[in-house]
Amino acid sequence: MGSFWGFLYRQLTFKPRPLPATVDLQGMTALVTGANGGLGLEACLELAAHGASRIILGVRDPSKCDVTKSIQAKNPNADVQVWQVEQESFASIKEFADRAASLDTLDIVILNAGVKSVEYVKSTKGGHELNTQVNHLGTALLSLLLLGPLRKTGATVGAPARLTIVSSENHFWVKLKEIKGPDTLAHLDDKETFGKDMDRYNLTKLLNVLWMRELSNRVSGDVIINAVNPGFCRSGLHRGHASGASFANMIGWTAAQGGHCLTDAATQHPRDHGAYISEQTVKSPSPFVLSKEGQNAQVKIWNETIELFEREAPVSDLLSNLKT
Ligand SMILES: NC(=O)c1ccc[n+]([C@@H]2O[C@H](COP(=O)([O-])OP(=O)(O)OC[C@H]3O[C@@H](n4cnc5c(N)ncnc54)[C@H](OP(=O)(O)O)[C@@H]3O)[C@@H](O)[C@H]2O)c1
Repeated sequence: MGSFWGFLYRQLTFKPRPLPATVDLQGMTALVTGANGGLGLEACLELAAHGASRIILGVRDPSKCDVTKSIQAKNPNADVQVWQVEQESFASIKEFADRAASLDTLDIVILNAGVKSVEYVKSTKGGHELNTQVNHLGTALLSLLLLGPLRKTGATVGAPARLTIVSSENHFWVKLKEIKGPDTLAHLDDKETFGKDMDRYNLTKLLNVLWMRELSNRVSGDVIINAVNPGFCRSGLHRGHASGASFANMIGWTAAQGGHCLTDAATQHPRDHGAYISEQTVKSPSPFVLSKEGQNAQVKIWNETIELFEREAPVSDLLSNLKT
């Protein structure tokens, strides 16, 4: 795992499978962020085809999201709802989560929205470096805020609800060397630390794995939490990265195949709380994640992220769904 040749081999030889025909999601509500296109949309189409009763698409601009009909074509009985969420804005995330808190049930959440910015950009809405803001901070805040409705559903239905965070194999290709400083997250806002090309994007996918593992440690079994590597796929993710887009055209899986990886992680593997799933199988995350340094990084990033939320996105009961 993790070497370029290993990555290439898996890309060329593994073929993601659709969900088995026996998977029946009737009666379930699924919420997917970044669902107006790419892997998120493909996951929604597959969840609908397996009978999901209500599908909520978290998108930046609902007025530009015209995919409802294509999802309903897979399941005419599905209630398809498009909700606004801008992951650069903590206020928007809180509004989105408040709406989710009013749902009677929420069975499956796939936190898929993400950006790959290979240039340093500071988010105007959030104030942090863009990849960090959207991929780590936005995803982490949503994961905490959606725990309430997920846990409530798990307890009512008598089977754990599901939370999947979309990471990447790219997390193998970086270490969190910034962890040595006093305030790692503040350090990541510093342009000097941005690195080159995909370094920062890769780092935020490592943060996804570290966050998922620490969150899993702190949440009891009424929600099964995991992170998924959807493989290297042709999608809009590479729009600002010409070499990535050309390489994806050469060896990338289709967005539908990436979508199969998302639905697999979010509906299969029911006993694998805290797992990293790649090629639709539970795998070890990177050696860094498993190292002593990685475990320290995991706790440090957790603590710093919670402190940042307390300062910038205060919510009185933010940690109320965690084990005490
Ligand atoms: N494609 C790959 O090769 C690959 C490989 C490994 C992991 N992944 C991960 O898979 C996930 C989905 O990516 P994709 O390949 O499907 O790319 P995509 O087609 O670009 O989809 C990304 C989605 O995230 C949304 N998004 C971006 N910034 C956002 C923000 N600030 N607030 C809310 N939503 C935002 C996008 O909305 P807009 O359309 O409005 O921009 C879009 O719906 C990402 O987390 C990515 O890191 C992809």
